[in-house]
Amino acid sequence: MELLSVTNLTKDFGGLRAVAGLSFELKPGEILGLIGPNGAGKTTAFNLMAGFIPPTSGEVMLEGRSVVGLKPHAVVKRGIARTFQIVKPFRNLPVLENVTLAAFLHEPRRASAEAEAKRMLGIVGLSGQVERNASDLTLGEQKRLEIARALATRPKILFLDEPMGGLNPTEIDEACQLVQRIRDQGVTIMLVEHHMKAIMRISDRVIVLHHGVKIGDAPPREIVKNRDVIAAYLGEGAAHA
Ligand SMILES: Nc1ncnc2c1ncn2[C@@H]1O[C@H](COP(=O)(O)OP(=O)(O)O)[C@@H](O)[C@H]1O
Ligand SMILES: [Mg+2]
Repeated sequence: MELLSVTNLTKDFGGLRAVAGLSFELKPGEILGLIGPNGAGKTTAFNLMAGFIPPTSGEVMLEGRSVVGLKPHAVVKRGIARTFQIVKPFRNLPVLENVTLAAFLHEPRRASAEAEAKRMLGIVGLSGQVERNASDLTLGEQKRLEIARALATRPKILFLDEPMGGLNPTEIDEACQLVQRIRDQGVTIMLVEHHMKAIMRISDRVIVLHHGVKIGDAPPREIVKNRDVIAAYLGEGAAHA
C-alpha cells in the first residue's frame, strides 16, 4: 500500500488557486523532492497535508485513512511531522527542552522523554548543544533543532520545507547526509528545496510544481531533461534553446 496518497488536492486563496488538483503517491522509504519557482504552492501543499489549513477540495490519505479535517496535532499523532521554512523553535528554552516537549507526544514520563530527545539531538548532531538556548544557535543549528523536534514525534513521514535555505556549502553537505540518515532510520521524507544540486543528489523522485500545477514527477535524471521544467525555471526560451 502507498504510505501517503494525495488526490486532486486544491487550495484557493480568494481568486488565486495556489494548489491546483495535485495528485501523487509517496512510497515507504522514499525521499521525494518538491521543487518549483517561488509562489508555486510548495509550502501551501505542506500546510494542506499537515492540517495547518483546510483544502478547498481533494483528499490526503495516510495508510488508507483520510487526514483531511484533522488539526495539526492530530496529524502529527497519525505520523506526519513537518519543519517550517522559517524556523520556529521556542527561542527562550534550552535545546534539550525544545525537543523534550515534542517527545511528550508519545512519552509522558519526563526521564524517558528527555532520553528520547537526547537520542534525536544525537542524530542531528546537536549533542554538544543541549544546554544552550535555542535563540543562541546558528541558523544551521536551528534548522537541525527543528528536525530533531519533528523526529521526536516519531513520524512515519517528515516534510522538510527548505532545510538548506541560508546554509553554507559545508552545512548543505551535512544536511544532505542527515536527510539520508533519517531515511535510513525508516522515516519517509518529502522535501522542498531550492538548492538544485542537493535535491537532485538525494531525491529518489522529484515533483515539480508551477503555479500550483504538477508539471513533472520523475527521477532526478529525467526531471533535469524535462522541457516544461526547464521552461518554468529559466523562461520559455531556454527549453527550446
Ligand atoms: N495564507 C495565504 N493567503 C493568501 N495567499 C497565500 C497564502 N499562503 C500562500 N499564498 C499564496 O499562494 C501562492 C503559493 O504560495 P506558497 O505555497 O508559499 O509558495 P512556495 O512555497 O512554492 O514559494 C503564492 O501566490 C502565495 O502568495
Ligand atoms: Mg515556500
